[in-house]
Amino acid sequence: MNSAFPSMAISLVKQSPPPAGLREAAPQYRVWFENNPLPMWVFDPETFSFLEVNEAAVGHYGYTRGEFLSMTILDIRPLEDVPMLLGAMNARRYERWTQKTQSRHRTKDGSLLEVEVYAQQVLWNGRLGEVVQIHDISELKRAEEALRNLSGRLLQTQDIQKRRMARELHDATGQNLTALLARLGAIRERVKSVAPDQAELVAECVTLASQTLDEIRTFSYLLHPPLLDEEGIVAALDVYVEGFAERSGIEVDLDVPSELGRLPDELEITLFRVVQEALTNVHRHSGSSTAAVRLIRDPATLVLEIADRGRGMPPEVLERVRRHGAIVGVGIAGMRERVAQLGGELAIESRDRGSVIRVVFPLTGASDA
Ligand SMILES: Nc1ncnc2c1ncn2[C@@H]1O[C@H](COP(=O)(O)OP(=O)(O)OP(=O)(O)O)[C@@H](O)[C@H]1O
Ligand SMILES: [Mg+2]
Repeated sequence: MNSAFPSMAISLVKQSPPPAGLREAAPQYRVWFENNPLPMWVFDPETFSFLEVNEAAVGHYGYTRGEFLSMTILDIRPLEDVPMLLGAMNARRYERWTQKTQSRHRTKDGSLLEVEVYAQQVLWNGRLGEVVQIHDISELKRAEEALRNLSGRLLQTQDIQKRRMARELHDATGQNLTALLARLGAIRERVKSVAPDQAELVAECVTLASQTLDEIRTFSYLLHPPLLDEEGIVAALDVYVEGFAERSGIEVDLDVPSELGRLPDELEITLFRVVQEALTNVHRHSGSSTAAVRLIRDPATLVLEIADRGRGMPPEVLERVRRHGAIVGVGIAGMRERVAQLGGELAIESRDRGSVIRVVFPLTGASDA
């Protein structure tokens, strides 16, 4: 138990008179408290000591009622959270009756719980108390964490497969097509003299093989540009944006500091995929004839922005995208997931005059490698 803290708490927390009109908890309230399946307690907001606990709290936290009543709420908090708790208690405004906060609690056996805490003021046996109800959300947090890890691994696997397919297409299929094209060229020359009536047919074969080779090269590049591994994000974006502008007819203004240098592999892939998806969206959804891609690096952050001057995202889509940020998937959800995996944040601004996707990565020592 953190027995050093209660006296400190007493001196730090302002003495607050019970708000006018606060009434003694009614007997029905106490029955509900006692029989509540969720852990509940009442504590003194000035000394932090437990005034009462229910059976569910005893079962969930492993302390007996007697032990609880000899403790303060600081005893069930991890030590590193205590200063924050004291600050929060000092800042508490009593005009608001119900508070909901997230917190971490320790049980008697040392397990750490992630909890949502609902607190409300009452008069308890004539003194000001805070009734607290606990929702243990540890399982939910673990499931969220597992989902994040899974989606991170899925994205990684997807990248590995894309890289492998790109290499196969480029090195095997592309090489075979190049050889086929060379042989067809030779046949075309020979056919011209021995069977001129067939020359056009062979010329068509040459054109088809040549188009297919171009398509395979583009497809391979879109799957995974070799330049990204060889020369880094600046060169890869340069070539990608130029090809995108040619294919889509959208004029793209690319503003990337040429002295950016190399960034960690994962960061480079993420930046590339975000630009790729965002520009694809500009082409498919915005109706804009221009787009701008900017990468800004300062000592603490790396910021990537992709802006267009199109019709903007439909409000209901924008709302859905903002609410379901963590869903595993393609498109914007995939971008956000990739960015979150590297500790970054993605924000979208969208109006009827265009949209901006802004991604901010914190730059730590590792990212400067
Ligand atoms: N730049 C944009 N301008 C206007 N609307 C956009 C823009 N980007 C996205 N949207 C809207 O947001 C929706 C979600 O985009 P998201 O990229 O997640 O999915 P998608 O492009 O429809 O499909 P995909 O999974 O193939 O990417 C789009 O369907 C479109 O309505
Ligand atoms: Mg999309």
